[in-house]
Amino acid sequence: MHDISHIHDFLPCATPSAWVDWALQHPDILLIDHAHCEKKAASTAINLMFRYVDRPELLDTLSQLAREELLHFEQVVQLMRERGVQYDHMTPARYAKGLRQHIRTSEPGRLVDTMIVGALIEARSCERFAALAPHVDEELGRYYRYLLKSESRHFEDYLKLAEQYAGAPIEQRVAFFKEVERELVESPDSEFRFHSGVPRAVDR
Ligand SMILES: [Fe+2]
Ligand SMILES: [Fe+2]
Repeated sequence: MHDISHIHDFLPCATPSAWVDWALQHPDILLIDHAHCEKKAASTAINLMFRYVDRPELLDTLSQLAREELLHFEQVVQLMRERGVQYDHMTPARYAKGLRQHIRTSEPGRLVDTMIVGALIEARSCERFAALAPHVDEELGRYYRYLLKSESRHFEDYLKLAEQYAGAPIEQRVAFFKEVERELVESPDSEFRFHSGVPRAVDR
């Protein structure tokens, strides 16, 4: 398996095993929400390319990232078709909104925070694919292991852009967002999603 020890080092906590159990109980939602996440990752990157037209490194990096996310989207939708899983609308997890609500509103803080949040989301996605891989069927496990490589690179891309555009150390800001992320991952959540927290006692 692709080495993702740097992802584990970066994240504030491991995905709780209660989330993995929850995911295995909802294989269809797992695939459908995964497809939405890939599409959203592409759309977020493209929106940033419209907002930051004067940042060449961001444009190059996020253009490639968006293409990769759209390729992942096509792959997940193909897997769903083969498995007879109907693609459908789905309310998003509280996760991304929970992180983004803390993004500063004035520049360059807005740009730096957005890149930090992007790095966290990519890192967590990567970690969750690795956590799920040993527990799902062989085909899906192989696919999740294949995704680790690009998702860990996306994490590095976002973090590098955050550092580059901050022009000052970002450790404190990263630490702040990590704490928000830990809370979203470890606290009880109402519905299972790819980025949800753990199930409430009544749902178990
Ligand atoms: Fe992806
Ligand atoms: Fe990604």
